[in-house]
Amino acid sequence: MTPAAAPETKPPLWPVDMPLRPRPAGPLWMGVAGKGGAGKSVLSGTLARVLARRGHRVLAIDTDPMPGMAHSLGVTEPAIPLLMGAVHKPEKGPWRLRSGIGPVCVVRHYTTPAPDGVRLMQLGKADKDGLASVNGSVSAFLQIVRRLHEARSLHDWAIVGDLAAGPRQPAAGFSPYASLYVVVVEATSQSAMTGRRVARIARGPLGADVIFVASKVGGREERLRVERLLGEPVDIEIPADPAVRDAENRHLAVVDVAPTSALVQAVEHLADLIERRRMEAS
Ligand SMILES: Nc1ncnc2c1ncn2[C@@H]1O[C@H](COP(=O)(O)OP(=O)(O)OP(=O)(O)O)[C@@H](O)[C@H]1O
Ligand SMILES: [Mg+2]
Repeated sequence: MTPAAAPETKPPLWPVDMPLRPRPAGPLWMGVAGKGGAGKSVLSGTLARVLARRGHRVLAIDTDPMPGMAHSLGVTEPAIPLLMGAVHKPEKGPWRLRSGIGPVCVVRHYTTPAPDGVRLMQLGKADKDGLASVNGSVSAFLQIVRRLHEARSLHDWAIVGDLAAGPRQPAAGFSPYASLYVVVVEATSQSAMTGRRVARIARGPLGADVIFVASKVGGREERLRVERLLGEPVDIEIPADPAVRDAENRHLAVVDVAPTSALVQAVEHLADLIERRRMEAS
């Protein structure tokens, strides 16, 4: 007799020990997500700086194992992620946060200071061996992002998380702090498909709000195309702006070299919208 097939179990969306909504109310804790190359890092670094210039205390979180957010923030990232100093590995067993280290301590001592008072916390970057050399940092990162809500002193901070491409990181608990997802979409069907998927996960299991940003838009037709592909309105339009490439080539933040550029102006509109949503939510 053939044995009965084991019941099919779907893997959980979250690591099982993760609380579902570990964050305070209000949309100032956000993740920036979308397809690869859509413009997430340029937007998130610039948004962090713009919010800081408006007087918010800002924690920028770089969740991408590839370089990106540090450039648009205008900071040089340390070769070894600072979070490596926050963990130790017992001979047997997983990486642990050192005794007494929690979210507040990490923000104070294991983040990189960036212009305008922004603090940058990094997952760690992949090298030729992948993430092996920064395993400790990745472990510390995941433990801390899941506990950010415990730190009452961070509740009035703005948090801007730059997520790796695609829906996987938000679905897998890399941004459990986010009550708002800024979904960045270019005028291609692939980009819109990823945007729709991220938005579905954000609004569904994550119970978060969504702002759609049409990125690198070359004119009205392109914005309409993004809306057609998404099947819903775009909230903010970011124009294709040569100042972005220029800043990138000079290894400088666009907000520093071109503070009145179309890109920075559009990010200011995004910051206005985010602040308005926070007012409505409170
Ligand atoms: N508004 C814009 N106008 C012109 N070029 C832009 C704009 N935004 C981003 N770019 C360019 O597009 C490229 C990708 O941008 P960025 O790195 O921000 O995307 P990303 O979504 O973070 O990519 P990845 O998925 O690889 O992390 C960069 O070369 C950047 O200079
Ligand atoms: Mg990026």
